[in-house]
Amino acid sequence: MASGNGSNFEALVSAIWNRRIHAEIALLVVNNPGCGAQQRADRLGIPWQLLNHRDYDSRTDLDRDLVERFRAADVEGIVMAGWMRIVTSELIRAFPDRLINIHPSLLPSFRGLDGVGQALRAGVRIAGCTIHLVTEDLDAGPILIQAAVPVLETDDHNSLSQRIHQQEHHILPIALMLAAQRWR
Ligand code: GAR
Repeated sequence: MASGNGSNFEALVSAIWNRRIHAEIALLVVNNPGCGAQQRADRLGIPWQLLNHRDYDSRTDLDRDLVERFRAADVEGIVMAGWMRIVTSELIRAFPDRLINIHPSLLPSFRGLDGVGQALRAGVRIAGCTIHLVTEDLDAGPILIQAAVPVLETDDHNSLSQRIHQQEHHILPIALMLAAQRWR
């Protein structure tokens, strides 16, 4: 599931193609027409579907449709790779322990929107990223893996985001492996 640029989605595809993990991406779902993730999927030959949240009456309706699509694609697990919508119990309860989120902060610090900006404003010396299982408490599910990223004196939002992204790309495949160990 992706809403934006899709660099984490592509990192996962690369990890699979480079045989760092044994997995198959059945489907990419995007909610923003033409977003970077969708363009990457076209280039990489990965099937994608658009579920535009603007076409649904409620979050629950969108999530119900997501569940249907994932069941139809027979997926074992789902990665929210920059999915910028709050998900509801409709989706979370359909895939317990199988829904994974990437968050750009060292949780439990800086939950919610703009984890990078929150860290910069708080003046922390160490920022980072977290991959965790999704539960009904926002950004508070069991942590699979984290990576720390030092905040440099010269950092702005863009430079810190870029270094956090690099770490996300590195730890996401590992997190997926760790999560999948619980699935059998
Ligand atoms: C990632 O940095 C991820 O941590 C963040 O969105 C970015 C997506 O980047 N997710 C959240 O903020 C979720 N609350 P990408 O589109 O390049 O993979």
